[in-house]
Amino acid sequence: MSRDILTRPAPIGLDEYRDRRRALMAALPPASAVLVPAAGLVTRSRDSDHPFRQNSDFHYLTGFPEPEALLLLLPGREEGEAILFCQDKDPTLEAWTGIRVGAAGVVSRFGIDQAFENAEREARLPDLLEGREALFLPLDDAPAMALARQVRDSLMARRRHGVVAPSRFCDVSELMHEQRLIKSEAELALMRHAAEVSARAHCRAMQATQVGLSEYHLQAELEHEFIWHGGSGPAYATIVGSGANACVLHYIENRDPLRDGELVLIDAGAEFDLYAGDITRTFPVNGRFSDAQRALYEVVLAAQERAVAAVTPGATLTEIHDGVVRDLTRGLLELGLLEGDLETCIEEGRYRRFYLHSTSHWLGLDVHDVGDYRVAGAPRGLTPGMVVTVEPGLYVPDEDDIPAAWRGVGIRIEDDVVVTPTGNEVLTQGVPKRIEDIQALMRKN
Ligand code: GLY
Ligand code: MN
Ligand code: MN
Repeated sequence: MSRDILTRPAPIGLDEYRDRRRALMAALPPASAVLVPAAGLVTRSRDSDHPFRQNSDFHYLTGFPEPEALLLLLPGREEGEAILFCQDKDPTLEAWTGIRVGAAGVVSRFGIDQAFENAEREARLPDLLEGREALFLPLDDAPAMALARQVRDSLMARRRHGVVAPSRFCDVSELMHEQRLIKSEAELALMRHAAEVSARAHCRAMQATQVGLSEYHLQAELEHEFIWHGGSGPAYATIVGSGANACVLHYIENRDPLRDGELVLIDAGAEFDLYAGDITRTFPVNGRFSDAQRALYEVVLAAQERAVAAVTPGATLTEIHDGVVRDLTRGLLELGLLEGDLETCIEEGRYRRFYLHSTSHWLGLDVHDVGDYRVAGAPRGLTPGMVVTVEPGLYVPDEDDIPAAWRGVGIRIEDDVVVTPTGNEVLTQGVPKRIEDIQALMRKN
C-alpha cells in the first residue's frame, strides 16, 4: 500500500488567470461586460452545509476559493477591468467559518484589479455597468439573471438622463467553454496529478479486494487514497458495483457484499485543485478471471486499446465511438451473444442491448467537462490540449436467453487521454488493465 507523499504540482499562476480573463474579453463585442457568480453554500441539513465546491467557470477566471462572490469584467475600464465582489470581513462569522480574504486580499493575493465587499454590491453595480450594451452572464443561473435585471432596471430608470443600460443579456458559457476545452500546460500538470492519484487509489482497492468484504470497503480504500494525496475527495460519486450492480451505470449505493466468482466494477476519480480524474477498472473479486469473464473482458479491452490509440489530432469522438461499436459488436457475435451479420447488428443497433452509452466525454474541471461536441453540425475534430475519456463497456442483462456464465456481468474500462500534437498521452497508465497485470497486482496482497 502506497504511503509515500507525492510532490504536488504548481497551482495555476495569477498570470494565467489574468490571461484567461483577457482572452474572454477579447472575444466580446464592443461595449460588453461579463458577470460570473461564484457558487453559494448549499445546506445539507439544518445548519450544516455541504462541503463548498467553487463554480468551475468562476474558478477558471479567478482561482478565488470563497462562496458568495461575483466577478465583473469591464473591458477597457481605466481603473481596472476585473472587479470582484467578495464576502464582507466579519470577525464574528470568521470565528465560526474561517478567515475571509476580504477586498484588499482579493487584489493583493489574487491579482484582481479592484475588489469590494458584498455590502457595496447593490450600490456599485449600476455605476459599473453603465454604458455597457451587452451583458454576458450564465443565462441559466437564476440568481445571476435576477441581479442583472435589477441592475438593468435601475439603469433604465435613468435613461432619460442619457444613461445607457445593458439591453442584451448574452450567454457567457459558450465563450468560456470553448476556452476551457483546450488545457494549458499548468492545467495538464494538475490533471496528470489527479489521474495519478486516481490510479493509485484503484491499485489500492484492487489489492484490498477479497471475498467477504463489501463494496463500501473498496470505496473507503479509494477515497482514503484521494485525500491522502491532497485531493478534495472524489470528483463524482464513487461507483463500486459488484456482480450485476456493474450493469447499473450510475450505481452508487455500494452496500453489497463482494462474492466469490463475481467481477467488481469500480468507476472512481480524485478531484485535485478542482480537476477531475475518471477511471474505471473491472476485476475479479477472488483475483482470477473465469474463462467466461475473460472472454468478455478481452473484447472490451481490445476495443478500448484501439480506441485509445485512435485519440489523435483530427480524429473525432464520433469516429472513435463508431470503431468501438464495431469492435464490440464483432466480439459479441464471436461469443454468440449476438447473431446475424455485423453490418446489420450495427445498423439496427442490436449491440445496444449490451452497450448503450457513448465512449468518450471531455474531462477537466468538471468530470463531464464543457465544450461542444459538434461544430457547425459536424463532429468536432480533436486538437492538442483536449482531454477525453475512453470508456467502452459491455453490460449483459440477466435474461433467460443469455448463457448463465454471462448473465449480469458488467465490464467497463476507462482511461483519461490528452490529445498531443503527435498523438496522445494516457494519464491513467498507473493502474493495470490487462488481465495478467491485474491478476499479478491482486496476488501481491
Ligand atoms: N464517472 C462518470 C463517467 O465515467 O462518465
Ligand atoms: Mn467517464
Ligand atoms: Mn467514469
